[in-house]
Amino acid sequence: MTQQHQYPSRYPATGKPPRMEEKQTITTARVPRILAIANQKGGVGKTTTAVNLATAMCAVGKRVLLVDLDAQGNATTGLGIKRADIRRSTYDLLFGEANARDIAVETKVPGLHVVPSSIHLSGAEIELVGAENREYRLRDSLRVPLPYDYILIDCPPSLNLLTLNAMVATDSIVVPLQCEFFALEGLSHLVKTIERVKKSYNPKLEIHGVVLTMFDQRNNLSGMVASDVRKHFGDKVYETVIPRNVRVSEAPSFGLPAIVYDMRCPGAQAYIHLAREVLKRERAISGDGSGIQAA
Ligand SMILES: Nc1ncnc2c1ncn2[C@@H]1O[C@H](COP(=O)(O)OP(=O)(O)OP(=O)(O)O)[C@@H](O)[C@H]1O
Ligand SMILES: [Mg+2]
Repeated sequence: MTQQHQYPSRYPATGKPPRMEEKQTITTARVPRILAIANQKGGVGKTTTAVNLATAMCAVGKRVLLVDLDAQGNATTGLGIKRADIRRSTYDLLFGEANARDIAVETKVPGLHVVPSSIHLSGAEIELVGAENREYRLRDSLRVPLPYDYILIDCPPSLNLLTLNAMVATDSIVVPLQCEFFALEGLSHLVKTIERVKKSYNPKLEIHGVVLTMFDQRNNLSGMVASDVRKHFGDKVYETVIPRNVRVSEAPSFGLPAIVYDMRCPGAQAYIHLAREVLKRERAISGDGSGIQAA
């Protein structure tokens, strides 16, 4: 058989091998791996983790879509996207016909796109209550072939229907945990919820890992909480600990991830380590670490 005769079966659309950009679309539009960043407790570092983990993953060549599922929109503004410029948002992902690929906007971070949050999202919870297929809406719009390796979902600080949608859509959950008193109490509630979602809606749901955030070395309590959490969750807790670092908290007001704002600061360095650890676990899960699974 000559080379020419092979083309029609290998490249049915044109009968010719694709040009480079066409080839990209053909080879990369798979269902991305999805990681939800969740903890119903407010202010524990979900958004900071989502933004910086996504950025660090892009720095090692992954294509990442960050879905801002919180009406506060901190991930959106923290990535320099102005509210006034948002045309379509996560709301449209939940209720519209629009595809994630069409809604996603570029950020200053190469390889990182975001589905922004908008004010409409604040009513979404109530609208979802009476909606058909209400638990599966996010899953149905994200579990489709898309040109990303990973989708990260920044969840709101509650266990409402939006968070439930994230838990149903996701492969795995990254739980940021602030090193403070009562941290474990809230966590047991989260774990029970994850178990319930696993039983009823998403049998493959797993906790990817627990990340200790805002660790303060000078504070004994931080160390005590950290060792309690490790005793309880064992190797589910990432080795990387995110220190409390003022540069990390300054970065969002400049519309930048801490990793771009000040790559050398201890917080940014910790998030780079965390991304390595997350991707290492991913390699163990998927076998090749591509983050890509078959459609
Ligand atoms: N490592 C850190 N060092 C210092 N400040 C931090 C750190 N991580 C987060 N912060 C700050 O703590 C606050 C809460 O963080 P973040 O917004 O990431 O939490 P969250 O869990 O997403 O909050 P919410 O529940 O409101 O969505 C923010 O002001 C953030 O800048
Ligand atoms: Mg947040």
